[in-house]
Amino acid sequence: MDEKEITMNQQRDDQETISLISSLPSDRDFHSNKLFNYQRCWYDKKTLQGILNFQRGFEPQDTDIIVASFPKSGTTWLKALTVALLERSKHSSDDHPLLSDNPHGLVPVLELRLYTESSKPDLTSFSSSPRLFATHVPFHTLQEALKGSPCKVVYIWRNVKDALVSVWYFECANLKIEDKDERRSMLESMFESFCTGVSFYGPFWEHVLSYWKGNLEDPKHVCFMRYEELKKEPHVHVKKLAQFLGCPFTLEEEESGYVEEILDLCSLGHLKNLEINKTGKTGRGVDHKNFFRKGEVGDSKNYLTPEMEKRIDMIIEEKFRDSCLKF
Ligand code: A3P
Repeated sequence: MDEKEITMNQQRDDQETISLISSLPSDRDFHSNKLFNYQRCWYDKKTLQGILNFQRGFEPQDTDIIVASFPKSGTTWLKALTVALLERSKHSSDDHPLLSDNPHGLVPVLELRLYTESSKPDLTSFSSSPRLFATHVPFHTLQEALKGSPCKVVYIWRNVKDALVSVWYFECANLKIEDKDERRSMLESMFESFCTGVSFYGPFWEHVLSYWKGNLEDPKHVCFMRYEELKKEPHVHVKKLAQFLGCPFTLEEEESGYVEEILDLCSLGHLKNLEINKTGKTGRGVDHKNFFRKGEVGDSKNYLTPEMEKRIDMIIEEKFRDSCLKF
């Protein structure tokens, strides 16, 4: 395809995107940002353009690996672990890519970074196999972009209350909101958005259930991980992840302490204290340090009132009733 044809195709795609977006239901989130409902989830306009470009133009390779999550559910950790597992034969411990780049720099989000401007971005820097990408879209939306390819998808989720508090902290840090009352009022508005489901990439339950079903239907290609379980039994789950990715630990590796080495390399304490994560920024201008906070299970108890907890628990219980998922 010559350059003129590429430009014409892009213009046609942009036109289609504009008319599709204008036909979608819309609402406002806690910030009064306009969100659009596409395939049962909510996105701002720019993200939605990225999703449509991704669905239209992504050419999957059978060996691709996609790290998927609802935002603030353990994505950074899962990206680091996946990189560490796949790269373990290629690097020594002092020239590892995780020491010189943030996990989000190494594993870009398809719809937020690679496909924002065009349905045919330049992916030549992803020439080695397997290619490793990330996404925050739900499984049914991802499936459309994968076009039947047997890529492997690893999903991580966590307790909705901890995810909410983590999103809140992240937003306050990015917007540099320090005033106590302003922070509290933001948490309360965010809580409302989470409960109604009208939040960026929400509803939370729609997201988790889509991957839960994906894993039930095709466990060989969709791995369903939980942050709390990874925290509780990291050895067990990192070994399962290696197996799923097709790079299981050998007996020699296990005996020589490779599993611990990978867990240490990817631990919150280690990553947080690397220079690149103390001072660097992502391509979108987010301070790397904002991705690392406490990583504690149940921390939301310190911020949500018992009434808030009860309300959100009841919503999730009702939404998860037909699944075996428990909080
Ligand atoms: P808290 O805000 O509860 O501390 P995401 O990576 O999806 O943005 O999620 C961010 C959450 O994961 C934050 O949780 C952050 O502290 C935690 N996190 C980041 N890196 C981690 C790591 N290496 N191990 C465990 N948790 C990590």
